[in-house]
Amino acid sequence: MKLDFSQMPAREIYGWMIGTILPRPIAWVSTISDDGRVNLAPFSFFQGITANPPTLMFVPVNTREGAKKDTLRNIEQVPEFVVNLVPYGLAEKMNATAALLPYGESEFEKFGIAAAASERVRPPRVAAAPVSFECTLHSIVRLGEGPLAANVVFGRISLVHVSDEVLGTDGRPDPVKLDLVGRMGGESYTRTTDRFDLKRPDR
Ligand SMILES: Cc1cc2nc3c(=O)[nH]c(=O)nc-3n(C[C@H](O)[C@H](O)[C@H](O)COP(=O)(O)O)c2cc1C
Repeated sequence: MKLDFSQMPAREIYGWMIGTILPRPIAWVSTISDDGRVNLAPFSFFQGITANPPTLMFVPVNTREGAKKDTLRNIEQVPEFVVNLVPYGLAEKMNATAALLPYGESEFEKFGIAAAASERVRPPRVAAAPVSFECTLHSIVRLGEGPLAANVVFGRISLVHVSDEVLGTDGRPDPVKLDLVGRMGGESYTRTTDRFDLKRPDR
């Protein structure tokens, strides 16, 4: 089978992309509007992209109606955000925060998610997240127009919170203790419980 994306509608292309580029890490992003209203939403078009300078990216695409998501609206007002990582124990709460709430209504309050104050940015972080990256906006790259068009948000990581509970005896994050989830296609997720090692040929 072959798919010619140049001949297909965006919604269908989206389905093929999220059903094949797997698994994807999840950024659970907290933002704040300039009048102090807090938002929290998950994004799996997400990656860390370089350590020099420490940078990550995630992509709030436009809605099916072509509108900006609340996360993007907030970042355009207050150019700061926190990327929280999602362990298995928080997966259901994370999923709940994907609900379309009226702009300005806080997912923290609506779904009973405890927030902790950030140190260098205004949006709070998710208190129970094992890792939270406090970021300042580097840039937004827009790709396409209308429904599902991308707003690629690049963030400079300023401060990272790592729960002591997820550290191994070597002081590094232990993947078993982190117990992060990844997004598969549709409504499916994966856990990081089945891992294997490969020796790098060049080491
Ligand atoms: C696990 C998961 C991953 C998601 N990834 C994305 C994504 O990468 N980009 C996106 O625009 N929406 C993504 N969504 C949908 C948004 O979370 C959803 O549209 C949400 O309502 C946006 O919130 P906001 O309007 O408060 O910013 C994802 C949803 C889930 C549950």
